[in-house]
Amino acid sequence: MQYTPNPERYKNSVGYNYCGKSGLQLPRISLGLWHNFGDVNDQNEAKKMLFTAFDNGITHFDLANNYGTPFGSAEINFGKFLKNDFAPYRDELIISTKAGHLMWDGPYGDWGSRKYIIASLNQSLKRMGLDYVDIFYSHRYDPNTPLEETMSALSDMVKQGKALYVGISKYPPTKAREAYRLLRENGTPCLIHQDRYNLFNRDVEQSIFPLVEEKNIGFIGFSPLAQGMLSDKYLDGIPTNSRAGQEFGFLKKEQIKPEKIEKIKRLNEFAQNRKQTLAQMALAWCLRDKRVTSVIIGTSSVKQLKDNIKALDNLNFTDEELWLIGEIAAESE
Ligand SMILES: NC(=O)c1ccc[n+]([C@@H]2O[C@H](COP(=O)([O-])OP(=O)(O)OC[C@H]3O[C@@H](n4cnc5c(N)ncnc54)[C@H](OP(=O)(O)O)[C@@H]3O)[C@@H](O)[C@H]2O)c1
Repeated sequence: MQYTPNPERYKNSVGYNYCGKSGLQLPRISLGLWHNFGDVNDQNEAKKMLFTAFDNGITHFDLANNYGTPFGSAEINFGKFLKNDFAPYRDELIISTKAGHLMWDGPYGDWGSRKYIIASLNQSLKRMGLDYVDIFYSHRYDPNTPLEETMSALSDMVKQGKALYVGISKYPPTKAREAYRLLRENGTPCLIHQDRYNLFNRDVEQSIFPLVEEKNIGFIGFSPLAQGMLSDKYLDGIPTNSRAGQEFGFLKKEQIKPEKIEKIKRLNEFAQNRKQTLAQMALAWCLRDKRVTSVIIGTSSVKQLKDNIKALDNLNFTDEELWLIGEIAAESE
């Protein structure tokens, strides 16, 4: 049956923030397709998650060339959903993809050469059946390729109409500053910086936040739930259907250490006192900082997605709460 989106999706939406000083607004919660949308995943649930997201005004879907198991399958599957269900709504969507991690064998399928970046975007467009993506990222800094080369490849993709905006991901601050300058000189300013941000990983607060603020660039945080650790799912062991319990998951069993579980338990109690789940509190915590344009969540079910959207019901923290949460999260393991 043809998908008909919720007509109230913008009235009762997740809300939008301007991306830095650009004219582009992004939903406060975006959906990432790293896990849960590949060939090894339930396609029916994947499709329903996309529908639920869009029905709630989540207009931004984040991909990369290598997302899904096997590599590329998230883009192929997303392309099918786009063609069959979202085609009339293309202009309501912000679709991003990236190149920078290993995608194919040989010297031209990884890192930041012009050869790789351009070939990769052409492949991504083909897999998704798109003429252009909204945001194209360099997925990581390449110490062995001149930044000028990587940035000019990104800029040329905008000039050729294959991307509307460009961004960078996981760049160290000194290189990020240089990348922003090069992109501006090329006439294609950096729209957005994407990096890991959650209660257990706060490095960007010191390194990247001051920079994006100074340069009027948006910031989008990935893995806001630390791949699911910032939820109640690992409190009583590792469920077999969880990311850490599955063979294809990036989160490894060894990362679920007893010391970490202790902290998660205390954070979980804290969240309960706020009448939120831990996942909701962890998302609200990321969004409390005005420099965060959006958080990219990953979900393995519609239920998780709906629960996570409810994080927006309580984004307020007292200074004391923030201090206490920070103390618990920072305790050594
Ligand atoms: N630029 C980069 O290098 C980079 C790197 C990583 C990610 N990203 C982007 O960020 C996106 C999100 O990353 P992520 O998947 O690591 O995000 P995340 O939101 O931290 O973790 C997602 C996982 O958390 C669990 N989860 C989500 N909601 C839950 C809930 N309400 N209750 C219990 N568990 C819940 C699910 O795990 P289960 O599967 O166990 O249910 C889900 O797969 C990616 O899809 C990608 O777009 C970018």
